[in-house]
Amino acid sequence: MSTSGTPPAALIDLADVRKSYNMGLSNEAEVLHGITLQVARGEFLALIGPSGSGKSTLLNIVGLLERMTSGSYHIGGTAVNALDDKALTLLRRDTLGFVFQFHHLLPAFSALENVTMPGLIREGHVSRQQRERARELLAAVGLANAMDKRPSELSGGMQQRVAIARALVFDPPLVLADEPTGNLDTASSDEVFVELRRMHKERGTSFIIVTHDPRLAARCDRLVELVDGKIARDEATARTAPDPGSPVPAPTDTPADRPDGH
Ligand SMILES: Nc1ncnc2c1ncn2[C@@H]1O[C@H](COP(=O)(O)OP(=O)(O)OP(=O)(O)O)[C@@H](O)[C@H]1O
Ligand SMILES: [Mg+2]
Repeated sequence: MSTSGTPPAALIDLADVRKSYNMGLSNEAEVLHGITLQVARGEFLALIGPSGSGKSTLLNIVGLLERMTSGSYHIGGTAVNALDDKALTLLRRDTLGFVFQFHHLLPAFSALENVTMPGLIREGHVSRQQRERARELLAAVGLANAMDKRPSELSGGMQQRVAIARALVFDPPLVLADEPTGNLDTASSDEVFVELRRMHKERGTSFIIVTHDPRLAARCDRLVELVDGKIARDEATARTAPDPGSPVPAPTDTPADRPDGH
C-alpha cells in the first residue's frame, strides 16, 4: 500500500529475475537470464518471442505458480520472495486471474457453473451475489444466451470467453493469459481478443497476454519480446497508426469491433 506523498507501487516489479531448471543436476539450465520488468496498473501488454524463449516460464513466475531462482519480485508493493506457499496462494487468489490456451473448463458443468466454480471453491457455496456476478460477466462477454450450456455445446471461442469470465469473477487487478487464442481459428481468436480488450477498457484490469500472433500483439498497447530468456524488446505499439496491410479493423474497442456484432 502506498502512503500519501509516495507514488503507488508498480503492479508488477521484477528485478534481475532468473530461473534455472534441474538445479544441481548435469542438465541444469538457466532459462530466464535476468528479467527486469515493471508493469503498471491498467496496462495491456503482449509478451511475444520464439518457442522456448521463456514466455510461459516468466508468466508462471509472475502468476506465482513457479518460484524464481534469484532476483526480486514485488506485486502491488509486496515482496514475493519472503512469502510461504500459503501466503502465495492467498496473494494469487486475490490478485490474479488466469486464462490458458486450453480453457480448462469442467465438462460436466454449465458455463454459469464454471464461472461460479472459483467462488464455490473459495467459500464452499455459491452466494446469490456470486451467481449474479457470474451472469453479468457471461453477458459482458456475449454469452447471455449460453449460460446453461456445457463446454462441449460451445464453440472454441465461446469456451475461451467463458474462461475469461471465470478469470474475472473476483475482479483481479491482473489477468495473465498464456496463448489464450492459440487453439482458435482467426475469427474466434478475434472474438476472444475483443473481449479481453473490452474487459480491460470497462474494468481497468491489467492484462499480460502471451501470443504467437503478431496481428494480436500489434493490437496490445505494449510489446515485450523475449529472446533466449532475455528481454530483447520493450516498446509501445503503434495501435493507432493506420495498418493498410492488415485485414483487421483498427482496434477502437467499440461494440462494432466485435466480430459477432453484439
Ligand atoms: N519444467 C521444466 N523443466 C525443465 N526445463 C523446462 C521446464 N519448463 C520449461 N523448460 C525449458 O525452459 C525454456 C523456456 O520454456 P517456456 O515454456 O517458458 O518457453 P515458451 O516461450 O513459453 O515457449 P512456447 O512458445 O513453445 O510455449 C525451454 O527451453 C524449456 O525447455
Ligand atoms: Mg509457452
